Amino acid sequence: MPKVTIDGVTIEVPNGTTILEAARMIGPEVAPPTMCYYSKLKTSGGYCRTCLVKVSQGSEKDPRPMPKPVASCRTQVMDGMVVENNTSQEIQEARAGVVEFLLVNHPLDCPVCDQAGECHLQDLGYEHGKSETRFEFPRREFERKDIGDKIQLHMNRCILCYRCVKTADQVTDCRVHGVMNRGEVAEISTYIEKSIDNDFSGNVIDVCPVGALTDKTFRFQSRVWFTKPVDAHRDCDKCCGKVRLWYKGNEVLRVTARKDQWGEVESYDGKTGWICNTCRFDKKTTADWTIDGPSKISRHSVISANHYNSLKALKSTLDRQKDALPHGEKVTLGHGALDPNNESK
Ligand code: SF4
Ligand code: FES
Repeated sequence: MPKVTIDGVTIEVPNGTTILEAARMIGPEVAPPTMCYYSKLKTSGGYCRTCLVKVSQGSEKDPRPMPKPVASCRTQVMDGMVVENNTSQEIQEARAGVVEFLLVNHPLDCPVCDQAGECHLQDLGYEHGKSETRFEFPRREFERKDIGDKIQLHMNRCILCYRCVKTADQVTDCRVHGVMNRGEVAEISTYIEKSIDNDFSGNVIDVCPVGALTDKTFRFQSRVWFTKPVDAHRDCDKCCGKVRLWYKGNEVLRVTARKDQWGEVESYDGKTGWICNTCRFDKKTTADWTIDGPSKISRHSVISANHYNSLKALKSTLDRQKDALPHGEKVTLGHGALDPNNESK
């Protein structure tokens, strides 16, 4: 069991573990961001360079540092390795450079993009981006394409992470799309304009980190932060049947797979919870589902805005404030914060 130290925290991990997975075992505070790596997809990672880290000591036996930043999703830990992620200024600058590269062609259309609020590139841009770009040339532009009747490809936004290609390859039984051409003219395309007609094709929407592949049945229906995610399940003979319903009022606007804290589809009993197109596109009434309860959404996500009604710490602070106020005055901070009937969701 090699020992690795990441941002000052030491952990023992099984042989063959990558730096990224070791960092995830420690926790989100030290885990590098990822745009192309997806733990549930074989051979993913190594394309985007978002997960760069500094290896300041290679191993116990050979303590020399690695000469340049490495992609943590593709580099295995060695016993005695010392890694710097958030603690390295050099890595923060390198990551800002990667974000600048990713945004060279990606349009800054968050205000009209359906992925806004759950876009990994948007989050990355806020966390590591710069306020200006040095790119002065026109961005690449493509026509929007329908990939089947339920999925739309907006290639302008694609960052060529290959996740959808690997999903189609490994989850569906007939991949008909891939990356055509290379370099500046590389694009995701279906071979000879074939549509993806497969029971599991909708999963490419869930793995796309940006708004390049979107659900046509949900496009422009609502901003995601106005919807309320609820976990639900049904007996399905094709998939695990465990999904997330996105409600607006009583209406189910979309159905997706459930995602974990890394933004990846959750696993159940060792199997990835990919969902079939029947659950995703054809079951959009509450009667189709058994509701499990409100989804756990990171409180830092914009999706959770207005969904945290009564955090305990906030409530006790407010209670103390309330006691200090002259009789009859009320503290009102946040929607429903003092309503005792509101449970934290
Ligand atoms: S369409 Fe989305 S998932 Fe596919 S390569 Fe582009 S960014 Fe990645
Ligand atoms: S996440 Fe490691 S290179 Fe993309």
